[in-house]
Amino acid sequence: MSDVVLEVKDLAKRFTLVELERLLELKPSAVVKRVEAVRKVSLTVPTGQVYGFLGPNGAGKTTTMKMCMDLIQPTSGTIQIFGSTPSDPSIKQRIGYLPEHPYFYDYLRPQEILDYFGRLFGIGATERMRRIDELLSRVGLQHARNRSLRKFSKGMLQRLGVASALINDPDLIVLDEPLSGLDPMGRKAIRDIIIEERAKGKTIFFSSHILSDIEHLCDRVAIVVNGVVKREGELSSLLQSDTRTSEMLLRNVSEEALTLINAHSTSATDMGSSTWKAVVPQSEMSKLLIQLLQCGAIVDELQPHQDSLEELFVRVSAEGSAVC
Ligand SMILES: Nc1ncnc2c1ncn2[C@@H]1O[C@H](COP(=O)(O)OP(=O)(O)O)[C@@H](O)[C@H]1O
Ligand SMILES: [Mg+2]
Repeated sequence: MSDVVLEVKDLAKRFTLVELERLLELKPSAVVKRVEAVRKVSLTVPTGQVYGFLGPNGAGKTTTMKMCMDLIQPTSGTIQIFGSTPSDPSIKQRIGYLPEHPYFYDYLRPQEILDYFGRLFGIGATERMRRIDELLSRVGLQHARNRSLRKFSKGMLQRLGVASALINDPDLIVLDEPLSGLDPMGRKAIRDIIIEERAKGKTIFFSSHILSDIEHLCDRVAIVVNGVVKREGELSSLLQSDTRTSEMLLRNVSEEALTLINAHSTSATDMGSSTWKAVVPQSEMSKLLIQLLQCGAIVDELQPHQDSLEELFVRVSAEGSAVC
């Protein structure tokens, strides 16, 4: 088995919108508007990992995923899935996909929907029934298996969407915002499924806005802003390589020392009893340390300050404005 399931290189997608009124009036000079939804996206999704695709609203995540799923065609760039192209029918059997807005006929019931998808994949009746039971239980919908979908909440439909993405026991699971619209129990159920699937050796590629979930689940992430991937790689090394500050805990901080701290730190927190915690850029550190010691401050702790994913996300997002 190859080490990489999905490889995307320099992907771009431009939508061309022609003003409808002009078209209907059949004017020759129809107004054409171009939307650069994806400008430059490159990703490497290794086998057996959980890959998080993050970015602000309108950054191009859904458009990228749709191109990977062969639902829309790229303007330029290449996509390789399982060493083939997204349009290759033989690889579709190995992929499960949850769209951003899953749609089901609302007169059907979960049991019927999953049975229908199972049949599309050519799964035999006994195995279909076994998988439907198992999946309904994993997404917490067994009690509603025979309830028609018009009585379902958004969160329940989302759970069903995840179950239908898994009916073919796919090797690559692509989930567009799987945690949206879910209550805490629903989020936990989907997080558990992602972890269980990775333990089985499956690859999960998902987008989300919920950074704490990404931080706990993902081995690798890409941050896309305004159609461009700004950071891509192992989560731990991204958080590490963006570390440019140290955190110091200081005692015996005089007025004079506090003025220095405020002038040179990016944040300073009063811990009480003349003790302060300060986050200081690496470039300022040596100079500040010498001056603080001269003022009689005592350094109790000094350690590299590792970014949280939220800090990294906010900083990277600010580097390029999103089209919302
Ligand atoms: N079918 C479309 N036609 C025109 N513009 C589109 C279409 N789909 C998406 N867009 C635009 O492309 C940009 C990226 O959208 P999308 O991929 O949905 O972002 P995300 O999933 O990151 O929120 C947005 O500006 C959006 O309005
Ligand atoms: Mg989206």
